[in-house]
Formats: sequence, C-alpha cells, structure tokens
Amino acid sequence: MQYSKSVNVVSFPFHTVTFISHTLVNFAPSKKQFMKKLENKTVFITGGLSGIGKACAIAAANEGAAIVIADRERGENIKTMEEIKAIQPKALFVECNVSIYTEVKKAIDVTIDTFGSIDVALNNAGIGGKAGRISDMEERDWLSVINIDLTGVFYCMKQELIHMILQQSGVIVNMSSISGKVGYAKSAHYVAAKHGLVGLTKAAALEYATDGIRVNVICPGFIDTPLLTKLDLNNNPDRKKVIIDKHPMNRLGSAEEIAKGFIFLATDDSSFVTGAALNIDGGFLAQ
Ligand SMILES: NC(=O)c1ccc[n+]([C@@H]2O[C@H](COP(=O)([O-])OP(=O)(O)OC[C@H]3O[C@@H](n4cnc5c(N)ncnc54)[C@H](O)[C@@H]3O)[C@@H](O)[C@H]2O)c1
Repeated sequence: MQYSKSVNVVSFPFHTVTFISHTLVNFAPSKKQFMKKLENKTVFITGGLSGIGKACAIAAANEGAAIVIADRERGENIKTMEEIKAIQPKALFVECNVSIYTEVKKAIDVTIDTFGSIDVALNNAGIGGKAGRISDMEERDWLSVINIDLTGVFYCMKQELIHMILQQSGVIVNMSSISGKVGYAKSAHYVAAKHGLVGLTKAAALEYATDGIRVNVICPGFIDTPLLTKLDLNNNPDRKKVIIDKHPMNRLGSAEEIAKGFIFLATDDSSFVTGAALNIDGGFLAQ
C-alpha cells in the first residue's frame, strides 16, 4: 500500500512523524467522498423499461438510489428489472399508464408505501405519435400524444409535488425534446406537447422554489433508442443521414449521454438550478 512506505520511517524525528501522520489524515478519503450521489434517495421514473428512461434508471441505481419504474409495457419488465436489481436490489416495477390519473396516483402511493419518500422524479414516458400534417391529423392521434406526453406529465407532477411539499424537498426532471424549442413538420402533437413541458417546468419551478423543490427539463436531440427504431432508420440510410446531418456533431446521441445530464439535475451538483431547459443535442439547437 502506498501509505505504509511513509509510515515505515519510525526513526525520523518526532516533528517529521507528526507531519507524516497529519498528511495521512488529510489525504485519507472522508466518508462523504465514498458516498454515492443518490444514496438513501428514492428515484421514480416513468417509461423506465426502455431507452432513455432505462439508462437513467441504471445511472441512478449506480449512484445508490432505490428505483421505482412505472411503465405501461410489461414485455421488457423482467429483463430490465433484473438488470437494475443486479446493481440495486431496492428496485420496484409498477404497471402504470401515465395518461390515466388513478394509475399515476397508485404508482406514487406504492412508491411512498415501499420506500417512504419520493426524492427524485423523472417524468420521461412518451410516444412519438402518428406523423401527419395538421389538416390530416385525426383528433384521436392528436389526443393520444397530448394525453401521454403532456397531460401524463401533469398527472405525475401533481402527485409527486403533493408528497414533495410535505417533505419540503425533491427534484423533478421532465423529458422534453429539441421539439420543445423548435418546430418539426408533421409532428404538431409531439411539438405542442414538448413545448408544453418546457412551460410546465418553468411554472412549477416558480411555484415551488421556496419549498426545497427544484424542477428542470431536458431537451434531447435525436437519441438512438427503440423510439427511433420505430422510424426504421437502419433500413432507411438516406433518412438516417438527413437526421444525423441536422446535428452539428454529426451523430445521434446515446441514452447514456442523456442519463449523465439527468444525474446532474437529480443531485446536489445542480443545487442552484431550477426552471432550466437543458439541451443535450450535439449542437442541434445552437443553429
Ligand atoms: N429517442 C429520441 O430521439 C428522443 C429525443 C427527444 C426526446 N425523447 C423523449 O424521451 C422520452 C423517452 O424516449 P425513448 O427514446 O427512450 O423511447 P422508448 O420508446 O425507448 O421508451 C419509452 C418508454 O415509455 C413507455 N411508455 C410509453 N407510453 C407510456 C404510457 N402511456 N405510460 C407509461 N409508460 C409509457 C414505453 O413503454 C417505454 O418503456 C420520451 O418522452 C421521448 O419523447 C426521445
């Protein structure tokens, strides 16, 4: 061990030994340095079975948090939950469609009953919806996106905030998009919902700034996840190139790169950050 070499110098004068022992104490890692950033915290994530939500769940588990995944899909349930539990045994899956208020309430009640608090919430569940111009868009297609991507986040925030106000602490992170800041043709429902999330986040940040609650939103560029697989980009190299070319860094992002931003916003590393919309987009929105 590196330190024992210095300790061996017992024949040194007393003041030298004192200096060495002081140095050892100063260099010895404190308990705080060993602590993970989300130890003893409970992190609630919607849409956490896949893509960005899954990467955020794994990152939070690696930082020591107890994890609750609320998702409407059950297919990946066992596999994803096994991956998370291998890192953090304190992990729970709750079946929940975020567009149904009673299911959201139940998912958050189960979180509190199981782990006693909800310290961080990532409202991430979302869908892209059926593409089409507004004049061709069916009301049901409009509503399917708005109900999940915008109203679903409102339902989650309402329930999360009820508990966070009682705790007088908490962090909420919403998942918007570059489409929360610029338009995208043939996706009016998605663009409207994601712009809505930026506004919802700012309003909430102001309402709860003195309750110890921070609220922020992430705006990712195009990220390589199953949501993009639905666009069948790998079988459409021309379309994939068009999308990649929109990013000055000339590539898609990864879910893990979004998770790094999430951990920043979820922890005290961002203790003075609230109402912010963090672009993680390879420069897309700088253009
Ligand atoms: N992938 C991208 O390029 C990209 C870019 C910007 C923003 N986003 C946003 O990031 C979020 C996650 O996207 P992703 O790419 O990881 O997608 P994904 O399809 O890989 O994962 C989405 C998850 O949400 C769940 N989900 C969908 N509807 C739900 C509902 N009603 N209730 C509960 N769970 C539901 C799905 O089951 C899935 O597990 C979405 O809000 C999306 O709009 C994605």
